Amino acid sequence: MKVVDFSTMTPAQKQGLLSQLVVPRPIAMITTIDERGVLNVAPFSYYMPVSGDPPLIAVTIGARHEASPAPKDTWRNIQASSGEFVVNMTTTALADHIETVAREYPSDVSEADLVGWRSMSSQVVAVPSLADSPAHLECRVREVLTRGDQSSCYSGVHIVLAEVVCITVDESITGTDARIDPTRVQAVGRMGFPWFVVASGHSIFSLERTAYADLDTESVPHVDGEGRALVSGSAATPRGRRSSVLSSDR
Ligand SMILES: Cc1cc2nc3c(=O)[nH]c(=O)nc-3n(C[C@H](O)[C@H](O)[C@H](O)COP(=O)(O)O)c2cc1C
Repeated sequence: MKVVDFSTMTPAQKQGLLSQLVVPRPIAMITTIDERGVLNVAPFSYYMPVSGDPPLIAVTIGARHEASPAPKDTWRNIQASSGEFVVNMTTTALADHIETVAREYPSDVSEADLVGWRSMSSQVVAVPSLADSPAHLECRVREVLTRGDQSSCYSGVHIVLAEVVCITVDESITGTDARIDPTRVQAVGRMGFPWFVVASGHSIFSLERTAYADLDTESVPHVDGEGRALVSGSAATPRGRRSSVLSSDR
């Protein structure tokens, strides 16, 4: 097993390695508007759900562009529009143009117009959503952690914690019980540059979930105070009853 030596790596290589190992990542296709109302779109894969109540998400926005020290339009616009933005779910409908809208265009260029994505009014926030995406998380910033060397595009970040104030979902991705049907979403994820992945077909599978209380605990390999196994066996033998309390969806 090779031990990675960070001391010999450039900042770009270190970030690249993290981006290749923490995969696949969902892609937040973020829409924002500037003071003039110009719609901006850019993808962000350093993105995660945080909690259900309140519904919070987190996204890491780099402090500056790669090719210039200018701040990212997404960051500038979020500040200009009272912390409002929309996370549009990235699916195969958007896949072809992910890299195009990620290009560091000047702020007076609307990437959505450039690639022909249609916008629509959001429900709660003033920032439009993308009609070509099947789900939209309308967000308001709750807190920002600014960290790292703000002059470096591999170090300086704004970690944005935002409340999801409204969600809209197209019926094309829900099943008969109104839950999201993962086989219909066609979600696109980020692998290390330049790779992506589509969640479809055989790559999607489900597993049963059984609570510890519902297991035949005799079969669970406990250890004693010194870490020695007391009982050997399979930890996965259910007693036959499924718990109804396992619904955290994580
Ligand atoms: C798939 C993908 C994921 C990305 N994820 C992030 C990210 O999480 N954080 C970030 O700062 N930049 C990320 N980028 C780069 C931004 O999209 C890029 O800097 C873009 O130009 C920002 O646009 P803006 O200036 O319009 O905000 C990503 C690019 C791609 C293609």
